[in-house]
Amino acid sequence: MVNMNVNTNETNVIISRHIHGQFAEHLGRCIYEGLWVGKDSPIPNTDGIRNDVLEALQNLHIPVLRWPGGCFADEYHWKDGVGPLEERARMVNSHWGGVEENNHFGTHEFLRLCELLDTEPYISGNVGSGTVHEMQQWVEYMTQDGTSPMADWRRRNGRDEPWKITYFGVGNENWGCGGNMRPEYYADLYRHYSTYVRNYGDNQIYKIACGPNVDDYKWTEVLMREAAQHMNGLSLHYYTLPSGEFFPVKGPSTGFNETEWFRTLKNTLFMEELIIKHSKIMDKYDPDKKVGLIIDEWGIWTDVEPGTNPGFLYQQNTIRDALIAGVNLHLFYKYADRIKMANIAQMVNVLQSMVLTEGDRMLLTPTYHVFNLYQVHQDSERLDLQFDSPSYEFGAQSIPKISAAASRDTHGHIHITVCNLSHNESEAFQCQLDGAGSYTATAQVIAGDALDAHNTFDQPDRVAPQSLEVTLSAEGILSFELPAASVAAITLSQA
Ligand code: AHR
Repeated sequence: MVNMNVNTNETNVIISRHIHGQFAEHLGRCIYEGLWVGKDSPIPNTDGIRNDVLEALQNLHIPVLRWPGGCFADEYHWKDGVGPLEERARMVNSHWGGVEENNHFGTHEFLRLCELLDTEPYISGNVGSGTVHEMQQWVEYMTQDGTSPMADWRRRNGRDEPWKITYFGVGNENWGCGGNMRPEYYADLYRHYSTYVRNYGDNQIYKIACGPNVDDYKWTEVLMREAAQHMNGLSLHYYTLPSGEFFPVKGPSTGFNETEWFRTLKNTLFMEELIIKHSKIMDKYDPDKKVGLIIDEWGIWTDVEPGTNPGFLYQQNTIRDALIAGVNLHLFYKYADRIKMANIAQMVNVLQSMVLTEGDRMLLTPTYHVFNLYQVHQDSERLDLQFDSPSYEFGAQSIPKISAAASRDTHGHIHITVCNLSHNESEAFQCQLDGAGSYTATAQVIAGDALDAHNTFDQPDRVAPQSLEVTLSAEGILSFELPAASVAAITLSQA
């Protein structure tokens, strides 16, 4: 039995809605087919963006969307992706499968997608193979209101009004695919490039520097020491690898055993150590926490589905993914004083996706359902939640069995989300709430009938939210039982 206490006193810590951000790269079938089918496609679409995917994503109220990469960003030349489609330059997407990129989805199409999703764009600029001038002109093209060469070109391409662009990343993984740079060199380049990422008119840009790869604490130290005063955010990338390694295998997305289940969740929990240690370095140079930690790539990365292009990173999504999403989001809320944005990788058909498509068919993944249930935490006030988690023991190892978070939204409703990481044991809860007598409770749970339970195009609702029985006593004790391997969301509304 887990005894929880939800303290309803004000904490004044707001969970930034941007923690629920997404990432869409020109990679595999994320952009082409997953989002963009073109205006002439038989698949119903709005301005070339497929309607089924659009509608599913609209329901998530995605606050921010990162694009065009990833590694692709440091090879992307934005001028190739504006103007009449048939005149756009073609290129080879050398990072991802060596396929042709026809640039039909460019700046205008991406920003139209953002408008349709009512989401804020987060543009990733090219430092690895792009020039300072090119980056400066992209920002001018998108945001300059008055007359200027780039603003005039934008108008000729059909867009009169400038867009509002808040988030701009100055390079991606410049320690790796973005140029294999040393932190000292990148810190100088960051200072140089970011100088020309200008605020035109009243557009104010939040500049994000390329941060560390996993536990590269030296990178964080050098970037914070040399460039903190020039940045608003510093990124961190950490993927959950089931085996803990990229090579020789990461581990399959389905058909895994209990050992792989446990190890994967243990690897996910390593995110907390990374947040604590990188934040400690940031605190040294930025004690007032002005620079946000931006976890702009996270999620599970498995082996690709058998028979698919290894460069397309297409993988299935199971109840294990639902737990990975829930556990990570809880960590991001816990450290919301430093974490200002997170972007799960990636939105459609790549890595830990929200939706998968096959031709004109689409399914919602278990991860989608977690993002859907958890959206109540967006911009809510985080509440203190006390509990002692039982241990989830497996062989000689153990991790906490329970992960949870609580918040109060602007209507005064209290939301508690809970994950049971155990692959085979349910858990009973008794939860004490201050002033609980005046609430009513409802709850939903996502669970699976197997460790790798997942949705397919023929069985799209095998893993989906169901109602969970909860009782709330007159004394304010909330009771419920959480099945093994499940994620639940409980809402307490003022009666
Ligand atoms: O998300 C897939 C890739 O992972 C991104 O392109 C890159 O930034 C990271 O290594």
